Amino acid sequence: ETGYVTLDPGFVNTASCTSAITYIDGDAGILRYRGYPIEELAERSSFVEVAYLLIYGELPTSAQLEDFEGRIREHTLLHEDFKAFFSGFPRDAHPMAVLSSAVSALSTFYQDSLDPSDPDQVDISSIRLISKLPTIAAYAYKTSIGQPLLYPDNSLGYIENFLRMSFGLPTVPYEIDPEIARVLDMLFVLHADHEQNCSTSTVRMVGSSQANLFSSVSAGVNALFGPLHGGANQAVLEMLERIHQNGDDVDGFVRRVKAKEPGVKLMGFGHRVYRNYDPRAAVVKKATREVLDRLGKPDPLLDLAMRLEEVALNDDYFVERKLYPNVDFYTGVIYKAMGFPTNAFTVLFALGRLPGWIAQWREMMADPALKIGRPRQVYTGSPERHYTGIEKR
Ligand code: SDX
Repeated sequence: ETGYVTLDPGFVNTASCTSAITYIDGDAGILRYRGYPIEELAERSSFVEVAYLLIYGELPTSAQLEDFEGRIREHTLLHEDFKAFFSGFPRDAHPMAVLSSAVSALSTFYQDSLDPSDPDQVDISSIRLISKLPTIAAYAYKTSIGQPLLYPDNSLGYIENFLRMSFGLPTVPYEIDPEIARVLDMLFVLHADHEQNCSTSTVRMVGSSQANLFSSVSAGVNALFGPLHGGANQAVLEMLERIHQNGDDVDGFVRRVKAKEPGVKLMGFGHRVYRNYDPRAAVVKKATREVLDRLGKPDPLLDLAMRLEEVALNDDYFVERKLYPNVDFYTGVIYKAMGFPTNAFTVLFALGRLPGWIAQWREMMADPALKIGRPRQVYTGSPERHYTGIEKR
């Protein structure tokens, strides 16, 4: 009995875990963080406040939020030796590969906060990750384009600091567009958690061996990298660009998808849980038009995406398979308009998902019944047989 659904024994046995953090009703298109509807949080909350809610279970008082923001500001800097890390990668390295490596490397610099059984160490490693991930992401991007790294400016807000480190230069003041910062903050809220998705399950699985939080989150970053998961936002934009280059032949592309041509999927469509509209996609779609209008950057790819959605939603092939736009379908168009390179889109997903990974890892670690993750299998290989020498094979 959770107050929402009565879990019958069969469901609990098939469920990978119980959790009090995020609730999804895939048929009704409902998503709630700690009971709060995502639509309300996206409209009225902030990413740092939602991070607090996910990790500690309650919306913070103003004093709690001020303290949380203060602790985050204290740790935005990276150790100076960490900087050498970025120039060690090829300039064209995918930033998700850099991010997962850098997050894992944090455990070598902060060896005083690795013990999952020590609540103080768990708290400081949580704060260090939330504080430093934007700095790492910005430094990976700046290094890839050969521009100087900017130190964090702790007089700025969380998102504003990230935007300045990503797009600012030491030679000129960087002017932050408050509307763009607000939309990016809202996008991070939408991505903050999503119950037992592939990357979160990975973070829990790795943590179940009592691996430290940095190592567990690094594994989650790698799981998110895949194009069927977080990598889909990059794959959607690449798909739209290919269709655009072929003269916006939407009907022709949809025919290829339905024919199941190898490697041809409608990226940004479909979901393991949502068999109806992904509630996050509706919010992103609305914000996309607002951002493009505000930036005065009309993008034919948005019109193309909306046309693709309209065709798919009226085509039995997609309707029968309950394929609807998911959170990744429109985000790439917004991120591109904000100035992020296509290969950084999944890094933005990781920045948003971080508090959910942390909250889910902490919830699991606090479970006294914690068992190391060890799925069983159904064996389908050869029955017993005996070794034969190579001369007889
Ligand atoms: C995320 O789990 C989460 O919560 C994830 C996430 C989060 O916040 O963490 O929401 C983020 O990962 C969203 C998903 C992003 N991925 C994509 O957009 C990639 C494209 N989508 C698919 O690859 C697919 O829809 C999945 C992986 C998302 C879901 O796959 P399922 O539920 O396993 O669906 P399936 O593979 O069983 O497909 C059912 C049918 C099949 O056709 P039939 O064999 O029945 O004829 O639908 C077809 C599939 O071929 N299908 C698609 C399709 N997705 C499924 N056909 C065309 N295009 C697609 N995108």
